[in-house]
Amino acid sequence: MTTILVTGATGRVGRHVVRGLLEAGVGVRALVRTPALAGLPAEVEVVPGDIYNPAAVSRAAAEVDAAFLLWPAFTADGAAPVLTALTKQVRRVVYLSSMSVSEADPSASGVWGELEVLLTDAGADWTFVRPGGFAASTLEWAEQIRTGNVVRMPFPNAGRSLIHERDIADVAVQALLHDKHIGQTYALTGPEVLTQAQQVATIATVLNRQLRVEETPPPEARRSMLTQGLDPSFIDSALTYWHSLVANPEPVTTTVETLLTRPALTYHQWAEDHADDFRD
Ligand SMILES: NC(=O)c1ccc[n+]([C@@H]2O[C@H](COP(=O)([O-])OP(=O)(O)OC[C@H]3O[C@@H](n4cnc5c(N)ncnc54)[C@H](OP(=O)(O)O)[C@@H]3O)[C@@H](O)[C@H]2O)c1
Repeated sequence: MTTILVTGATGRVGRHVVRGLLEAGVGVRALVRTPALAGLPAEVEVVPGDIYNPAAVSRAAAEVDAAFLLWPAFTADGAAPVLTALTKQVRRVVYLSSMSVSEADPSASGVWGELEVLLTDAGADWTFVRPGGFAASTLEWAEQIRTGNVVRMPFPNAGRSLIHERDIADVAVQALLHDKHIGQTYALTGPEVLTQAQQVATIATVLNRQLRVEETPPPEARRSMLTQGLDPSFIDSALTYWHSLVANPEPVTTTVETLLTRPALTYHQWAEDHADDFRD
């Protein structure tokens, strides 16, 4: 029986990868830090371990046919020995990367590009799944929506083509199951551009509530993000990026529809799937 290793199996994308693989009838092994809290289906073989530990990754990857790789860190520090350990055991790797990787210079594209280069250099049979922004990133508004009717943000008119985590996972499952995806990079987005104000309006429709968007000056947004413990350089690049999306919204790709032969899931669908996260 085919067995596939899933890292990040307890996360947003990973849980759907596990579900998709089980539905396809293949065996799933999951590398999990805290098995008691994993809450994975009983059929999943849970292997305890930390992804930053090459020996744990090597154990988890022994005799599997392919691996779904999620690298949860903001830097590639420590990734080289882990990927060496992984690719010694399994050549076929589907890596959850990012649309921000530059084709011209992946190694200068942050952690995702660095991981792509490491996997290529390791001789893996790779597929790079490169999503744009996750619809799940709008869960950052959940507390404001649970506790009031106002959502504050610096750039309500920033246009985003956010993707449902289920679409990312469904593409990854196809890539894990079929060799024709070896050597392919897939830039994935949702099916449409919505401004952030329109995303809030979508949540309001789903919840059947009145929600108001309030524009916060960028310096105030910066201060608020700092109090959440976010890295200052991350905050500055995020603010610059969101500002740029007012005049130049994110692109929309048709890759999800092409690969899955069904339309990509809408933000409205995502909001329905996550409605309880926004309810008190
Ligand atoms: N957000 C975006 O817009 C965006 C865009 C492009 C790409 N990405 C990439 O997508 C990935 C996040 O995907 P997601 O949202 O599905 O993840 P998530 O929901 O944040 O979950 C993270 C997963 O990683 C696991 N994990 C964390 N640290 C670990 C460790 N030391 N050892 C083993 N497992 C560990 C967690 O397991 P536990 O149960 O142990 O916590 C969990 O399963 C990141 O690599 C991110 O860079 C995100």
